[in-house]
Amino acid sequence: MLEKAQQLKQQFAEKVSTATSPAELEQLRIEFLGKKGSVASLMSELRNVPNDKKKEAGQIINEVKQFIEKNIAEKGVEIAKLEEERLINAAEDYDVTFPISEEKGSYHPITLVQRELEDIFAGMGFSIEDYDEIVDDYHCFEALNIPKHHPARDMQDTYYLSTNQLLKTHTSAAQNAILKKYTSELEADRPIRVIFPGRCFRNEKIDACHENTFFQMEGVMVDKDISISNLIYFMKTMLSEVFQQDITVRLRPGFFPFVEPGFELDIQCTICGGKGCPSCKDSGWLELCPCGMIHPNVLIAGGLDPEQYTGFAFGLGLTRLAMMRYGIKDIRVFNSCNLKSLSQFENATFTQPEKEVK
Ligand code: DAH
Repeated sequence: MLEKAQQLKQQFAEKVSTATSPAELEQLRIEFLGKKGSVASLMSELRNVPNDKKKEAGQIINEVKQFIEKNIAEKGVEIAKLEEERLINAAEDYDVTFPISEEKGSYHPITLVQRELEDIFAGMGFSIEDYDEIVDDYHCFEALNIPKHHPARDMQDTYYLSTNQLLKTHTSAAQNAILKKYTSELEADRPIRVIFPGRCFRNEKIDACHENTFFQMEGVMVDKDISISNLIYFMKTMLSEVFQQDITVRLRPGFFPFVEPGFELDIQCTICGGKGCPSCKDSGWLELCPCGMIHPNVLIAGGLDPEQYTGFAFGLGLTRLAMMRYGIKDIRVFNSCNLKSLSQFENATFTQPEKEVK
């Protein structure tokens, strides 16, 4: 038995030393340690060993088994290391004279508009935050003063997961987390100023104006004595930069449970200059950005004292803004993966309203 065990050990040692790939190693494992492998067959010979030698023989076989297991594991690590080095060397081994492909990717129009807005808001002292796409009911609704069974939920049906989570219906779902995260700003006597763009999802019937997946950019500003005038100033400044012209805005009352008062912010139509055209349905105004003064209950849920602090919030439709910015008439283009349509905006500039032809 001792002799056989030693032979087996030697046989294995020879074979393992020449193995160079994980597949070969696996083959060896099956050959020696598998159910019908060499170690198992040695084990089955135990029954022919006299009883007083059985214990010793069993120990010998076990040692061989452990030897094989240990060596396979060590060899596995060695092979993985060699493979890594090979990949690194191969990566360095590129031809610097190889011609660069002329084909170049381009940014998605939403990304372009998003970055532009981020730059503008960063210039006004705003921080930029990212937030989850999968959220819970509390953050999407409850913390925003939309209790269960509130009719406002009807407008925001979404995709619910079996984990009781949901795909966020609006970027407002991040408000609670942002207020909590930035409390230290107020303690340091600085305002909370944050924007948080994100992808949102709703159960929508898709047509040229509606998508089930779209982008918004939410913003909040909280401090002592923040008023509607601050809100109007920031929105007007931002929109004038986006459209590269002085933008006239107006506020209409609008109901959203998380703001009081709430507004719909319209801009004077940039296509007709307010005279009325098909793009603004002859009204001269375009609905662009719901906003309002943050509701005391939302501040409380965010850990802030509404007696001490006030703030505004807005939820800009990023997808809609991109449509207006680049004259995209069908919202379905954005998720179409149609590179021909999507790649033409990188160098596009905003088209000024057409001059009146006399
Ligand atoms: N979350 C709202 C929606 O998607 C939009 C909105 C309205 C955001 C008012 C706000 C706000 O921050 O103040 O319908």
